[in-house]
Amino acid sequence: MKSFGSKPWMLPQPVLVIGTYNENGVANAMNAAWGGTWDMHEIVISLAPHATTRNLEANGGEFTVSFATVETMVSADYVGIVSANNTPDKMERTGWTCEKAPNVNAPVFKQLPLTMECRMKRKIDESDTGYYLVAEVVNVLCDEQYLDADGNPDVSKMNLIAYEPVAHKYIALGSVVGDAFSCGKQLK
Ligand SMILES: Cc1cc2nc3c(=O)[nH]c(=O)nc-3n(C[C@H](O)[C@H](O)[C@H](O)COP(=O)(O)O)c2cc1C
Repeated sequence: MKSFGSKPWMLPQPVLVIGTYNENGVANAMNAAWGGTWDMHEIVISLAPHATTRNLEANGGEFTVSFATVETMVSADYVGIVSANNTPDKMERTGWTCEKAPNVNAPVFKQLPLTMECRMKRKIDESDTGYYLVAEVVNVLCDEQYLDADGNPDVSKMNLIAYEPVAHKYIALGSVVGDAFSCGKQLK
């Protein structure tokens, strides 16, 4: 085995799109790969200072989190390399359309299949370089075209992408290969 030293290579990372409104109600989005589950109803995202973090302050910490897809990959990367701080027409370039989320003051981007409505609960280790945002998931919205026959989100229909931190690539998620909490039973 070859050693590579201390690297936070959590494989793979999600490609989150954080949606916020600015103080004038203009929608913004940013890409965040350093995020994950915190608790049963909470998520955590490592946030540096951005237009997004200012928007969070202006909206009582309310935001949305969606998941990038193969079809939205270019726009999702674009919102991660350009800031609304110096590109006022940032969102127009994505071609994304949005509507206000039903439970929080934040945009739902219609091109993204699944969206979590979130509200900040606390900041951890806040400093000049940012903080860890812990947020409550208030509600989850799923575009009806991605529901299965039972009315539940069918992730296999969404063409989701993941971030691969070793070579800085986006990878399309593959097919379902087994049932979790179950397929291991054959070795019991
Ligand atoms: C793949 C990728 C992952 C990123 N992950 C994060 C992250 O987890 N946290 C963060 O603060 N910024 C992250 N960024 C950077 C922000 O998305 C970027 O600075 C963005 O321009 C901020 O937009 P805003 O200033 O309009 O809010 C990431 C960017 C890319 C391309």
